Amino acid sequence: MFRRYSLFVKMLIFLSLIIAISTVGYYLMLNHMQLNQLRNEARTVAEHVVAFRSWVARFGVVWVKDVETEFLGQQDCSRSATFYSKNPALATRELAHIANANSQTNFRVTSDNYRNPKNTPDTFESNAIAWFKKNKAYKERYTMEGENFRYAAPLIIKKGCLKCHSEPSVAPREVIEKYGAERGFGYKLGEIRGVISVTIPTRGMWWESLKGVAVWQILLLILIVIVAFIFTQTVVAKPLHNLAESVEKISLGGKEDLKTGEIPTNTANEIDKVTLAVDRLQLSMQLAMKRLRKKG
Ligand code: HEC
Repeated sequence: MFRRYSLFVKMLIFLSLIIAISTVGYYLMLNHMQLNQLRNEARTVAEHVVAFRSWVARFGVVWVKDVETEFLGQQDCSRSATFYSKNPALATRELAHIANANSQTNFRVTSDNYRNPKNTPDTFESNAIAWFKKNKAYKERYTMEGENFRYAAPLIIKKGCLKCHSEPSVAPREVIEKYGAERGFGYKLGEIRGVISVTIPTRGMWWESLKGVAVWQILLLILIVIVAFIFTQTVVAKPLHNLAESVEKISLGGKEDLKTGEIPTNTANEIDKVTLAVDRLQLSMQLAMKRLRKKG
């Protein structure tokens, strides 16, 4: 099918094919690398959140002095100082409030049995919670949702959590007062309480990583095309073209100097071999002609 085409066109088709394949490969590689990078970033955020929550959970609640927007309990220590308590989820929500304002990456804590409607899970989060309940061995779940990378890691009930999430009868009075006894209870050790959900917007990210490497990749491809073109032209196409012209002249009865003296006898160059053979053919043709003329 390509037989009629010149060597140059064939080479061009071949190179285009290589470029197409490497572009697809490059895209797949970049995608994979980017997903890995996003997952690592989300994992780090989730690990930090878990560490922070464990720190709060170790004390049950942490106390802060003076007026705060939200708190679980309240204790007046003297006439001038009031302390307010923060449970792990509330402290995390306040940490998220500060961290999310300063970063592209967002995180939150949610549950299918939430106490605070602010922690209502969205579709990805509900699905992740249901999935972690079925697949206890898994420690994370992630996916691309439009331009956002979504990541979830399970929050497991540990000993420190039981005080406020097992039975309402053992829960601190403030929890019942503030949130009631219906929601966020009934958990046992090791059960999945909810997830840490991390969202990383990826808008412009593709372009950023593409810019970093693609310029060099494109320059390299252009260089390869140029070198391949010069190579086929000088080493293959031009000598073949010259040889074809000489053979044409010989076939019309002309005599051609094929410069065989410049060719080493033990050459491995296919074009040189053909040139030597054509030269021998030219010689034997001339001898045959001479003999014919003598006879005539
Ligand atoms: C001092 C009591 C207390 C302790 C200890 C505690 N929690 Fe909570 N937890 C709460 C309260 C109160 C809320 C509702 C917080 C809010 O308003 O965001 C909550 C909310 C949550 C939520 C968010 C969903 C919801 O119900 O609104 C998760 C998930 C959660 N807790 C998990 C845990 C885990 C896991 C531990 C142990 C590491 C733990 N909690 C320890 C009191 C507690």
